[in-house]
Amino acid sequence: MRAQIIGVGHALPERRLTNQELEQMVDTSDQWIVERSGIRERRIADPPTKCSDLAYQAAAMALQRAGIAARQLDLIIVATATPDMSFPSTACIVQDRLGASNAAAFDLEAGCTGFIYGLDVAHKYLLSEDYNYILIIGAEVLSRILNYEDRNTCVLFGDGAGAAVLGKGHDGYGLLSSVIGADGSGARFLTLPAGGTAMPASLETVQNGLHFVQMNGNEVFRFASRILPEISSKVLQKAGYTYSDIDIFVPHQANIRIIKTAMKRMNIPAEKTLINLDKYGNISAACIPVALSQAEEEGRLKAGDLALLVAFGAGLTYGGVLLRWGRD
Ligand code: ACO
Repeated sequence: MRAQIIGVGHALPERRLTNQELEQMVDTSDQWIVERSGIRERRIADPPTKCSDLAYQAAAMALQRAGIAARQLDLIIVATATPDMSFPSTACIVQDRLGASNAAAFDLEAGCTGFIYGLDVAHKYLLSEDYNYILIIGAEVLSRILNYEDRNTCVLFGDGAGAAVLGKGHDGYGLLSSVIGADGSGARFLTLPAGGTAMPASLETVQNGLHFVQMNGNEVFRFASRILPEISSKVLQKAGYTYSDIDIFVPHQANIRIIKTAMKRMNIPAEKTLINLDKYGNISAACIPVALSQAEEEGRLKAGDLALLVAFGAGLTYGGVLLRWGRD
């Protein structure tokens, strides 16, 4: 048995927030943001839009493209750092809205690596006879946890969702290898300090801006630059491939400099690399599935392509998946 992605979908808010607009909000410049991160604009969800709304839209598209009904799903995993609320899980909200009444549902928190963690978990569930179809969604409304007075973070992130339906295949297509991991000693480098049991919400936490993302960008940058080539080489080795076999490289979209460092170390050319951070910024767990969905739509991702997906994120987490794109 091999887990295959049989349908992908995405949802992006209409509203674009450009670097020029951010220049009016914080002490920054289009030039700084483009040079230091590669980002030109990002999408921002209007106030009534919740994580589950974007997740639902992306999921509906993925199900339609997969050609299966929501009632056929056995499991729904929503990878997110920005759920509708602490509980119930956003996965349960989406399950109800889709009418996926036969599916178990849970949220998965692995920061920006969430979608890769989801693929690894789904693959293992699909080895069981009890599971035939699994929906994984990476969905984020990061604009709700950003401080638009903090130039260190507010320029980097955006909102959106991507989804993939996985089924069982028996041919050459599908997941060939996966590796996930974490280095919890770096947990302090990327946090949302308040609102949990460590620091319950209070007037003071709100006044001190502790419900917003706090990040040590340099430490995350260092970690990411080291881990992307490391994880890529592990995933490839596990399946018996080398860098030169890759047809499409789909890295997490945090910073163009991190991606270029990885491309250089791995000798992967630009035409084989999917980049969407210029248009959407870092949408955390949604980056990779959005890139896959749009690349398939545009014909950039074709049946038979060897695709390497790699990510890192809050935790600090990391993971990679190697798959042969296509379905039986
Ligand atoms: N505009 C202008 N100046 C800025 C801005 C801005 N938006 N942001 C920071 N600066 C300033 C800093 O204050 C600093 O000024 P100083 O020298 O006077 O103190 C100067 O620019 C340089 O700051 P650095 O942090 O050294 O800038 P760097 O080139 O490292 O870029 C960045 C910062 C873009 C944050 C980079 O470190 C990065 O991308 N790190 C990785 C972040 C990341 O991947 N986060 C997501 C993780 S995944 C997840 O789970 C969400």
